[in-house]
Amino acid sequence: MQKTKEETQMIIAIDGPAASGKGTMARKLAQHLGVPHLDTGLTFRAVAHALLEAGLPLDDENVAEEVARKLDLGTLDRDVLSAHAIGEAASKVAVMPRVRTALLEAQRGFANQPGGAVLDGRDIGTVVCPDAPVKLFVTASPEVRARRRTDEIVSRGGTADYEQVLADVKKRDERDSTRAVAPLLPAEDAHLLDTSKLDIESAFQQAVGIVEAVKAR
Ligand code: C5P
Repeated sequence: MQKTKEETQMIIAIDGPAASGKGTMARKLAQHLGVPHLDTGLTFRAVAHALLEAGLPLDDENVAEEVARKLDLGTLDRDVLSAHAIGEAASKVAVMPRVRTALLEAQRGFANQPGGAVLDGRDIGTVVCPDAPVKLFVTASPEVRARRRTDEIVSRGGTADYEQVLADVKKRDERDSTRAVAPLLPAEDAHLLDTSKLDIESAFQQAVGIVEAVKAR
């Protein structure tokens, strides 16, 4: 029997706020399924990083769009781009519609490769891949996320103040949720996974259960 497009191209869309655990979830699922993974946050971070490095303003849409159009997904370096300050800058760049449109083309191209892919971000289930057969929305309370982010920075040898990180997490949530274009929001058909009280393994097992149920349909 011929396979349907949905069977051959299993796109998994994972959204959620900063430090919700969606990135780890996405990496584990991609590995489990043997499909490529794109952390779309890195695409916004790369644009912000390029602007900062060149000493260019973060709010000039023409310049930011040009940088976004030239972005090569093969060059995204998580180690360089994961700095807290680059995340802040990325969420400023991410409010500009023309930057989003430019990155959207690259993100959709990645999603539509044969065999499927896992993408994580803020608007994957709502805008980038609205037809994805599996959509997860991963959340956790701001306090839990701030604690995780603080511990992560400290474990990498950096210094972080929990109260400051919590304030930043809340500010970023506000900016991401209230922007006019592609705000952070669960798709109507997304499965909600609250990881506030779950360790990553339990959350991952729940996600695998959801994926298997969709595959079995
Ligand atoms: O997930 P991460 O913290 O790397 O994302 C950095 C910023 O990029 C987010 O705060 C958000 O403003 C933006 N972003 C977005 N849409 C996505 C992924 C990230 O607007 N799909």
